[in-house]
Amino acid sequence: MRHNFDLAREGYLNLLPVQHKHSSEPGDNKSMLYARRAFLEAGYYEPMAKAVAMMVAVGRPQGQAMRLLDVGCGEGYYDRQIHAYCGQSVQIELHGADIAKAAVAAAAKKLPSARYIVASSKRLPYADQYFDTLLRVFAPSDEGELKRLLQPSGRLLIVTPGPRHLAQLKAFIYSEVREHAEEIVLPQGFERLDTQRISYRIKPDRAARAALLQMTPFAWRTNPAIRQALDEPEELDIETDFILTLAIKTAKDHTLEQKTAC
Ligand SMILES: C[S@@+](CC[C@H](N)C(=O)[O-])C[C@H]1O[C@@H](n2cnc3c(N)ncnc32)[C@H](O)[C@@H]1O
Repeated sequence: MRHNFDLAREGYLNLLPVQHKHSSEPGDNKSMLYARRAFLEAGYYEPMAKAVAMMVAVGRPQGQAMRLLDVGCGEGYYDRQIHAYCGQSVQIELHGADIAKAAVAAAAKKLPSARYIVASSKRLPYADQYFDTLLRVFAPSDEGELKRLLQPSGRLLIVTPGPRHLAQLKAFIYSEVREHAEEIVLPQGFERLDTQRISYRIKPDRAARAALLQMTPFAWRTNPAIRQALDEPEELDIETDFILTLAIKTAKDHTLEQKTAC
């Protein structure tokens, strides 16, 4: 595989990921960001967000501060929920990173006590083992970076769509709706501590349905006919289905074991 790096005059390497080079607006574009903002702030995912907040805080030793990074944080909706639900009982140093500048700017404005950066999840500019908790909600990440950034026995919480997630919305787009897997494959070097499945129904109005469509990857597959069909029903009952997977970083590095095995 060929890699091209920009060697700066001063002699350092700019290891800019490919998507930085080919897009003036890396990550989610503004219409996706605005759609996600409108939908999340209307509270449709609040039960899941509460569960996320509880899950990052539960089982922590009394009085121990938490240093948490939200990888692919978007506009920091889940960070604000964590701050609101756990901020009184746990001392939290909240960090968020996302490749979309507009999202990070909005996150920072809404939660000034947190620290946000524009960065790719493939190269996160933090010291090794800087965090004890990592959060990844519907966002891409890099296995090596997750492992590098977490302290030994640090915890990783991943939120992914469950099998029935948005099934009724998907039915407008796909002739055959394929279900997501119920269990995710954890990155090497992590062991599952707990899995919670949070499922409930929502009844988004027309504007919220349009926002939901726009904030998901389904947006790329829609056309005016689909949008019109989705706009027709006065009420639409939609299933949400989230898998929350809490894992611990184990002392053993299976990747190294595999590399050295012969
Ligand atoms: C589906 S959104 C989820 C945002 C947020 N976690 C939430 O649930 O509200 C995915 C996010 O990942 C970000 N993203 C995509 N590629 C990324 C990358 N390589 N590095 C960092 N963030 C990335 C996008 O900009 C977007 O904000």
